[in-house]
Amino acid sequence: MARYDRIGVGYARGRRTDPRWLAPVLDALGDAGTVVDVGSGTGSYEPPSRHVVAVEPSAEMIRQRPAAAAPVVRAVAEALPFAAGTFDAALAVLTVHHWGDWRRGLAELCRVARRQVVLAYDTRLHNDFWLVREYVPEVASLELRRPSAPEIAAELGASSVTVLPVPWDFTDGVFPAYWRRPEAYLDPAVRRSCSALAQTAPAAVDRGIARLRADLESGRWQAEHADLLGLPEWDAGFRLIVA
Ligand SMILES: C[S@@+](CC[C@H](N)C(=O)[O-])C[C@H]1O[C@@H](n2cnc3c(N)ncnc32)[C@H](O)[C@@H]1O
Repeated sequence: MARYDRIGVGYARGRRTDPRWLAPVLDALGDAGTVVDVGSGTGSYEPPSRHVVAVEPSAEMIRQRPAAAAPVVRAVAEALPFAAGTFDAALAVLTVHHWGDWRRGLAELCRVARRQVVLAYDTRLHNDFWLVREYVPEVASLELRRPSAPEIAAELGASSVTVLPVPWDFTDGVFPAYWRRPEAYLDPAVRRSCSALAQTAPAAVDRGIARLRADLESGRWQAEHADLLGLPEWDAGFRLIVA
């Protein structure tokens, strides 16, 4: 059973395409006419009006793809079922950290396409997020086992790495999406659509969320984080890597 058959239930509800990330992804794809979207999930950042083939191992994620989404092949990044050079570009959005052998997966992106566009994050910066630092520090050890954006960029020999800040009202519920809307993390449905929380021991998450609830009620969180409340966007470590 693919991991996302379990933790991906309800994904399409909490993880909606944000145009402020779609635009740089489309730019990064350049003039690519054929694109393979590896670890596609529901296809949040698949480019419209290009020939796209999606690759996804989880039946639950495939089930949530919109009816008009690109055709999907059930496979893993580490063994792409395509001949060398089949595509102009390979796209991998917020998926490399889930791959069993991420170096082999990246090598496969390079084999099947001449351009690689990878959206990943710097795990050290993710660990600096207040929810990890102050409430659920147990997330940090999981993050440090995952490949970080600088390692991915180095492995690909990237030609560019662009910071993708998280706007305060971001619509794609990635783990730090609610950095300025802390009440959101009290909702179990929000927590379920973040793999960092879904893969951390439930007792540790419950403990941290109970403390967050108390700090929000007492006004302590607001006092400690007054500096965040006026910011329009924040760098949580997301990087768009092009090779
Ligand atoms: C956080 S979701 C991202 C989905 C989508 N790219 C998006 O941006 O919404 C991670 C996806 O990677 C997939 N995945 C996990 N292991 C994989 C592997 N070895 N090869 C390809 N995809 C994988 C999961 O099933 C899941 O759909």
